[in-house]
Amino acid sequence: MIVIKENYDELSKGAAKLIKEAILEKPNLVLGLATGSTPLGTYQELIQMHKESILDFSRIITFNLDEYLGLSANHSQSYHYYMKKNLFGEININPENIHIPDGTAKDVKALCRDYEKAIQEAGGIDLQILGIGSDGHIGFNEPGTSLDSRTHVAKLAESTIRDNSRFFEKKEDVPESAITMGVQTIFEAKKIILLASGENKATAVAKALEGPITSQITASILQRHPNIIVILDEKAASKLKKYG
Ligand code: F6R
Repeated sequence: MIVIKENYDELSKGAAKLIKEAILEKPNLVLGLATGSTPLGTYQELIQMHKESILDFSRIITFNLDEYLGLSANHSQSYHYYMKKNLFGEININPENIHIPDGTAKDVKALCRDYEKAIQEAGGIDLQILGIGSDGHIGFNEPGTSLDSRTHVAKLAESTIRDNSRFFEKKEDVPESAITMGVQTIFEAKKIILLASGENKATAVAKALEGPITSQITASILQRHPNIIVILDEKAASKLKKYG
């Protein structure tokens, strides 16, 4: 299902409402989370709901999509830091229930294996929140990544390094690799909410939703997902044949 909202604010409210409903229905929801600019408004809404005592996060279990390789949890651009600052530090989540790949792990292969295992042991991801890269990636599954992939170390595409350099002092500071859930790992989530906002996502969104299913646009696999809601703002939807 594709939902088009007038603007980013409405998109964030819509996504937060769906997450709220899922948590109210299952207080020990296994929630897959994304970082980046897109979910920031959604996280703000969730924090607000927590402050108003509408939502209790004490039993939810979270798995983040990815982390930069080489960045420690307290590095200001790490996704550990992002999550603490933009969500976890503001809600009553049990720290033991938080899972984010450790960017400093010595044995990265073991970490990837253990991450998959932890997801399985939690019973699988009930609801996965996703953004989309301007190159059509989900997680850090860049063009060319196998659609069967599981948690692995990924080399960031040049366009992703460019996109993400806005968060770093200079482009050279952006790590070149990340640990990411694989395409198949993401696809196995029972329900997915894909969010995209802004004109710079319009081409990737059109290719992902209306183009062929291909490893060149890893988000295109989502066309096959049985339970997905895509929430777009008007700008991100502007190149869709059906809605643009
Ligand atoms: C983040 C992630 C990425 C982002 C994507 C969009 O955890 O896995 O796939 O969702 O790069 O990023 P923004 O939202 O910053 O445009």
